[in-house]
Amino acid sequence: MQPVVLISGASSGIGMETAHLLAENGYTVYGAARRVERMDALKPYGVKTIGMDVVDDKSMTAAIKHILDNEGRLDILINNAGFGFYGAVEDVSLEDARYQMEVNVLGAARLAQLVLPGMRDRRYGKIINISSIAGKVATPFGGWYHASKFALEGLSDSLRNEVKPFGIDVILIEPGGIKTEWGPIAFDNLEKSSEKSVYKVAVTKFATAFRKTMDKHSDPDVIAKLILKAIEAERPKARYSAGYMAKPTLLMRKLLCDKMLDSLFLQMLK
Ligand SMILES: NC(=O)c1ccc[n+]([C@@H]2O[C@H](COP(=O)([O-])OP(=O)(O)OC[C@H]3O[C@@H](n4cnc5c(N)ncnc54)[C@H](OP(=O)(O)O)[C@@H]3O)[C@@H](O)[C@H]2O)c1
Repeated sequence: MQPVVLISGASSGIGMETAHLLAENGYTVYGAARRVERMDALKPYGVKTIGMDVVDDKSMTAAIKHILDNEGRLDILINNAGFGFYGAVEDVSLEDARYQMEVNVLGAARLAQLVLPGMRDRRYGKIINISSIAGKVATPFGGWYHASKFALEGLSDSLRNEVKPFGIDVILIEPGGIKTEWGPIAFDNLEKSSEKSVYKVAVTKFATAFRKTMDKHSDPDVIAKLILKAIEAERPKARYSAGYMAKPTLLMRKLLCDKMLDSLFLQMLK
C-alpha cells in the first residue's frame, strides 16, 4: 500500500518540490495551500490538491476529513507552510507577531492534533515539522520568526516522546538558506516594518548582507531529498539539516558561547 502524505504549503518552494519528489517515488500525495491554482503544476505528477489555510480551523478539519474519507488513512503529515515576519521586535505589531505564531506554530500543532488519533489507532505515522536553522540561532531583526521556529523545535521535542510509544515518529527538518519565495517575503516584511524605525540603518545593513548571500542559497530539491531520506529512514533521527550554511551555523551554535555569537552579529551590523 502506498503511504498517504499531506504536505502543507505545497504551492511554492520546498513544499512544491517535496510534493513532486514524493509523488515520483510512489507516495499518494495531497498538497495543500491557500493558492490552490498554483498547485495545478503538480497535478500531472498525480498530486491531489486541497485548499487549506493553516490559520483556519474549519479548513484544516475539512482537509483532513477529505483525505480520510478518500484514502481511509493518513500516514505522513509534513508541516511545511510557513513564512518570515521579519522586523525589529519593537517595530512588529503584536497582531503581526500573533499571525506569525499562528501560521508557523499553531497551524502545525493543530494539524498534528487532527492526524494523531488515526495514527495512534493504526500505531503508525510520521509527523515531519519543517523548522529552520533559525530555530537554533537567532539573528537580530528576525525575533518573531525565530520565536516561531524555536517554539516549533520545543513542541516537536515534547511531542516526539509523547507519541513514540504509539509507533509515531516526529522529525524536525532544519533547512539553511533555500531559494524560494521565503526570502523576498521576509525581507519585504522587514523593510515595511522598519520604514520609520530607529533601527532603519542597522536593518538596511542586515538586509544588504542577507541579499548578498541569496545567489548562494541552495535549491529546494536539497530539502525535498532530505525529507524523503528522513521519511524512509528505518530509525529516523530527531532532526536533519541541509542547505546553504546549515551545517556551519549549527556547528557555530554548538561551539561558540552567547558572547561570541553576539559579537559576530554586532560586527555584521557595524
Ligand atoms: N527558504 C528558506 O531559506 C527556508 C529556510 C529554513 C526554513 N524554511 C521553512 O520552509 C518552509 C517552506 O518555505 P519555503 O522556503 O518553501 O517558502 P515559500 O516558497 O514562500 O513557500 C511557503 C509555503 O507556505 C504556504 N503558506 C504560507 N502561509 C500559509 C497559510 N496561512 N496557510 C497555508 N499555507 C501557507 C504558502 O502557500 P500559500 O501562500 O499558497 O498558502 C507556500 O506554499 C517554511 O516553514 C519556512 O519557514 C525556509
